Amino acid sequence: MAGKKPQKAGWTRRDFFNWMLNVVMGVIAILVAIPSVGAAITPAFHNAAPVWVNLGAQTGLQQSSVQAGTGGVGTVVKAPYSYVEVDHWAKLPAADYAYLRYIGGSCAFYILSPICTHLGCHVNWIQADNQFHCPCHGSVYTVDGLNVSGPAPLPLGVFRWKMVGNDVWVARESTFTHAHQRTTESPTEPCLKEA
Ligand code: FES
Repeated sequence: MAGKKPQKAGWTRRDFFNWMLNVVMGVIAILVAIPSVGAAITPAFHNAAPVWVNLGAQTGLQQSSVQAGTGGVGTVVKAPYSYVEVDHWAKLPAADYAYLRYIGGSCAFYILSPICTHLGCHVNWIQADNQFHCPCHGSVYTVDGLNVSGPAPLPLGVFRWKMVGNDVWVARESTFTHAHQRTTESPTEPCLKEA
């Protein structure tokens, strides 16, 4: 019929560009969502049961702490341990250490994480100063792990521990940061010894 515009068949160039635009937007949305999904599900893995690691025989640990101290009062000793690092689906042998001190009484051991609560460096025990020093940005902690100077916002973490037979085991949490707000009046509370 004269004057009627013919119908277009198939995809036009505009249809194709619209389709491409939708595909690109979809890919971008997925890429943006992946970190959020990862962040959402990662705590589920991190909150899994703690990994218990063996620090060694109770008598040996107590002797090394007390011998290093004075008057039968223990001082801080490094207690190394090995464990299996689970990184997503890979399992790798790894090693680390805790700082242990014999304090007597019902608690017996006070066991600190060596991880600085600022940005996670390992702190060093300085016997001459009776303090922990962080080599990264200079945070200083008391013998009980209380943060006293530098940028560290919290005390050193305290490990939960328990006896298994004659050995001392600690709960190696994925974050190492059971950084309880302790006070100078009761710096070694909580003891965190488990039955
Ligand atoms: S990581 Fe220890 S002071 Fe920064």
